[in-house]
Amino acid sequence: MKAKIMTVVGARPNFMKAAPIIAAIREHNERMAALPNSMEVSNSPVVIESVMVHTGQHYDEAMSDRFFVDLCIPKPTVHLGAGSGSHAAQTAEIMKRFESVLLQEQPNLLIVVGDVNSTLACALVAAKISFDGNGTRPLIAHVEAGLRSFDRCMPEETNRILTDHLADLLFVTEESGIRNLQQEGIPDDKVHFVGNTMIDSLLAFRSKASTSHILDTLNLRGMDSAERPGNGVARYALLTLHRPSNVDHRESFLAILEGLEELASSCAVIFPAHPRTQQRIADFGLERFFDHVNGAGNEEKRSSTSTNGKICLLDPLGYIDCLCLMEHAAVVITDSGGIQEETTALGVPCVTVRENTERPVTIQVGTNILAGTSAEGIRQATRQQLKLGAEFAMPEAWDGKSAERILEVICRELGKQQQTSAS
Ligand code: UD1
Repeated sequence: MKAKIMTVVGARPNFMKAAPIIAAIREHNERMAALPNSMEVSNSPVVIESVMVHTGQHYDEAMSDRFFVDLCIPKPTVHLGAGSGSHAAQTAEIMKRFESVLLQEQPNLLIVVGDVNSTLACALVAAKISFDGNGTRPLIAHVEAGLRSFDRCMPEETNRILTDHLADLLFVTEESGIRNLQQEGIPDDKVHFVGNTMIDSLLAFRSKASTSHILDTLNLRGMDSAERPGNGVARYALLTLHRPSNVDHRESFLAILEGLEELASSCAVIFPAHPRTQQRIADFGLERFFDHVNGAGNEEKRSSTSTNGKICLLDPLGYIDCLCLMEHAAVVITDSGGIQEETTALGVPCVTVRENTERPVTIQVGTNILAGTSAEGIRQATRQQLKLGAEFAMPEAWDGKSAERILEVICRELGKQQQTSAS
């Protein structure tokens, strides 16, 4: 049997979630190629043709290309080059460009990951496509299904809900996802609890991250302290902020920066900033909170780790450097969904600058805390997280084998599909 699987990626957080699946398909094909013909496994596609589509939602070297190198992902088969725009314009542009690719390639199954506009756009096209005028379309698999913030102001929440309701196979990362999907009436037999492919990537690339030079570049080595004795790394915080609700309004952004001043006076705060955030810093005249505005410090070594109350602003980092910085941070302050999970897997204290999270397991495990977005909330949460010292459990099935489990289910389903169409 042969089958074609198309995987869509579009924006930065997609790449680390898709990479292990692409690798699992390659390994599956290698295993199958090594089998003698007589041992072909019935009901399982022997050879999977893997087609990767990059929508181009993120297009910069820093937001896209570098991740393909860092995560050893092959070049996309097709690049749609959709680019930026309003939500409607971006989603529509991806849909228009994706439809003709889908019609041409006619995969048996489409994989979409996460909750970005590309995820919804491509799932929606696939749900309505007809390859033959009789409604034949690919199975749709959603990786990272079931997460809910219950905050409809987040564009990602709309993307998650709609994508889940379009999907035929829903791959869930944490127990809350199963509950949420049950409550929305999604049949149990579509839902598969497989763990977290982003954590597959983290575990696969953790040792490579230990060879990163980013700690030297930022002059964060050679500073043992009472809090982190003996590991030769200075006490520092890592900061990421990019949510429109946090950075697109001057008052909200200002309150967050005021909430971080206390931390920035006690240790270095390293801030690789999303292009949107860098733009807002300039638009709102907030440069006084930062050193190295416009990423000017990226290449040059920071002159000292002395704390002057300013935040060290950098251009966005690649996956390996970011993982290294996360692993050694005393605390991570973020509004990213993925970083809440990555810090949980690393056992690093995290302060989430949001009122809610769609990833409650990170709170249950104890590494993550919701600070809200007020200056005082951020100050208090940061003080509390800096005192965390315990060991933390890894959430269930975050064991580096999630992509393998996903591919097992997919092969089973494709086998069933091919049997049905043959009979
Ligand atoms: C998108 C996702 C968000 C995810 C984030 C990670 C949606 C609705 N949002 O938000 O869930 O957490 O990616 O980064 O899909 N830009 C560049 N270079 C790029 C890409 C973007 O400069 O390669 C700038 C453009 O000015 C663009 C802006 O960033 O207008 C925002 O990009 P966009 O893809 O619209 O949303 P993100 O904020 O990145």
